[in-house]
Amino acid sequence: MAFFKKKKQNAQHPRVLPEHIGIIMDGNGRWAKKRKLPRSAGHNAGGKVFRTISRYCSDIGIKYLTVYAFSTENWKRPKDEIDALMKLFKDYLEEALRDFKDDSIVVRFIGDKSPFSDELRALMIENEEGSKDRDGMVLNIAMNYGSRDELVRAVKLISQGVKNGEIDINSIDEDLVSSNLYTSGQPDPDLIIRPSGEYRISNFMLWQSAYTEFVIMNKLWPDFTTDDLDEAINIFNSRNRRFGGV
Ligand code: IPE
Ligand code: IPE
Ligand code: MG
Repeated sequence: MAFFKKKKQNAQHPRVLPEHIGIIMDGNGRWAKKRKLPRSAGHNAGGKVFRTISRYCSDIGIKYLTVYAFSTENWKRPKDEIDALMKLFKDYLEEALRDFKDDSIVVRFIGDKSPFSDELRALMIENEEGSKDRDGMVLNIAMNYGSRDELVRAVKLISQGVKNGEIDINSIDEDLVSSNLYTSGQPDPDLIIRPSGEYRISNFMLWQSAYTEFVIMNKLWPDFTTDDLDEAINIFNSRNRRFGGV
């Protein structure tokens, strides 16, 4: 973990940066409702905050950031809300291709891309391909992501390997399961932040979060600021991680 370079840093106890941060970007709908606006206005505002926070994480030296943008359960929402979200994703993906050419951020999508429109899927792949050789922060955007779905997929991949004679059942271990998840090759999240005050995981990184520190914040995502991210990192620094030891 890298040292956290901030002015207020205490030389005796320098803050450490989490290597991998996960964010459940929640509360867009309530933010809009409070302002008597359509839910889509909340998603627009949340999209802007996502741009600010992902840039900030990259600037301060976070190595991996995973943002939960759309879950496998979010398809239950009304069609007009889904349509607005898809339009927002499309705008962001086009903007990223157009404006972030010289960026160092590696963009990856975690989740099942198959239900998205051909256009959206092509934009996702183009963003991944165009950024894969960069050397900066890895930004995982969880879209149509559900951790149970991810685990079912891993079970199928491993089963296929066993069936083909490529995997010996006795060699199945935690590393093999991890390497069949969307986050294969990446460290587990050290810190998961959930704004909007909800105390639940909502199908996010179930396997990967076995020893993650959770920080719940009473702020709706569109109100979330870089100071809130700093505060979450400070809270993370106050925790005593034991990983089952003493
Ligand atoms: C999170 O905000 C964004 C998505 C799930 C796409 P919500 O839309 O869930 O906002 P609330 O929880 O209704 O306030
Ligand atoms: C989790 O938020 C999913 C995302 C933020 C993308 P939800 O709003 O869907 O979760 P629940 O329904 O409150 O558990
Ligand atoms: Mg929500």
